[in-house]
Amino acid sequence: ETIDWDMEAAEKCGYEHFMLKEICEQPKALGDTLRPKLDKQGKLVFPPDIESLIKGASHLLITGCGTAYHAAMVASYVIEQVASIPVEVVIASELRYKHHIRKEGEVCILISQSGETADTIAALRMLKNLGIPTFAITNVVGCTLSREADKVMYTNAGPEIAVASTKAFTTQLLSLFALATLLAKAEQLVLLEALQQLPSQAQRLLDRQEDIQRFAANQFNKTKVFFMGRLVDYAISLESALKLKEISYTHSEAFAAGELKHGPIALVDTSTLVVALCTQPSLFAKMDSNIKEVKARGATALVITFEQVHTFDETADMIFRIPQTHPLFSPILTVMVSQLYAYYCSVQKGNDPDKPRNLAKSVTVE
Ligand code: G6P
Repeated sequence: ETIDWDMEAAEKCGYEHFMLKEICEQPKALGDTLRPKLDKQGKLVFPPDIESLIKGASHLLITGCGTAYHAAMVASYVIEQVASIPVEVVIASELRYKHHIRKEGEVCILISQSGETADTIAALRMLKNLGIPTFAITNVVGCTLSREADKVMYTNAGPEIAVASTKAFTTQLLSLFALATLLAKAEQLVLLEALQQLPSQAQRLLDRQEDIQRFAANQFNKTKVFFMGRLVDYAISLESALKLKEISYTHSEAFAAGELKHGPIALVDTSTLVVALCTQPSLFAKMDSNIKEVKARGATALVITFEQVHTFDETADMIFRIPQTHPLFSPILTVMVSQLYAYYCSVQKGNDPDKPRNLAKSVTVE
């Protein structure tokens, strides 16, 4: 008797696609990424050379491409707020060609899952020529970026096969949040505690993925999907729109909610789905009025917010509630909702979410 081994099916461990497997691996990947950064007492420990490089920086430049760029954006909001260090974020394909002005005490963090993206490597070489210290955050041990950067820190996401990045992104965020916590001027213990809860909170969110599957089954035919939010919710809106366009081929856009009135609202009609990311308590009232504005033009509104929040109960068509974390750390959880939404829309449309048309996992040539 012979057994017909299908290697790919075996590697999917019973999941229909690598993307779903990788989404579901996030609680473990987050735990694996955080654990090496904690000592026995639960305090943050970084290798001394990395700690002194980062603590000595008076100005941070963060770069990357695609999803990694969105991780950089999230980090800029978080680091500026908790550590009061100015952070500049530039897309690597722009950085490599622009006239970059070196600041006193500047350190550059380069983010790349593969560590092989041509534009990110070119940006690294340009920065090294300018004499700026470089620090890579990557998922692949021994990649080009890790070999050429001055310092390197690995995310422990494990291999990511699906083209659309999921667990690599959330582990990048976790690494950056740990750095921000290390640099925090206040609230350090609160942040540390919030950090440690994220892996189990990610699992609690996944336990309710059928709600998102059902919503996608109703909404996957929408021809226009807008994501909006403010601050970190804006950065995750960009990442959410990217996920949806990558694998479901739906025309999706993201904008900072305050920009709604400066153009995007002209496109809102009854065929529009608006996903409002609402995790910044001081901005709930502003978000609620933005949602009312799109609803008044016939849009369907999905709100993603925390469990205990009831501000949007009357306004939203549907609310997906994420576990309560520190508002600055919400991106790890909100993006998981968008990943699942994009995944289920893609499957509903009959696409292969693991191998989207025209896209490559790693863009190693220009
Ligand atoms: C490609 C992938 C994206 C990824 C980007 C940057 O476009 O499809 O998922 O975010 O490259 O990749 P990197 O390996 O540098 O993070």
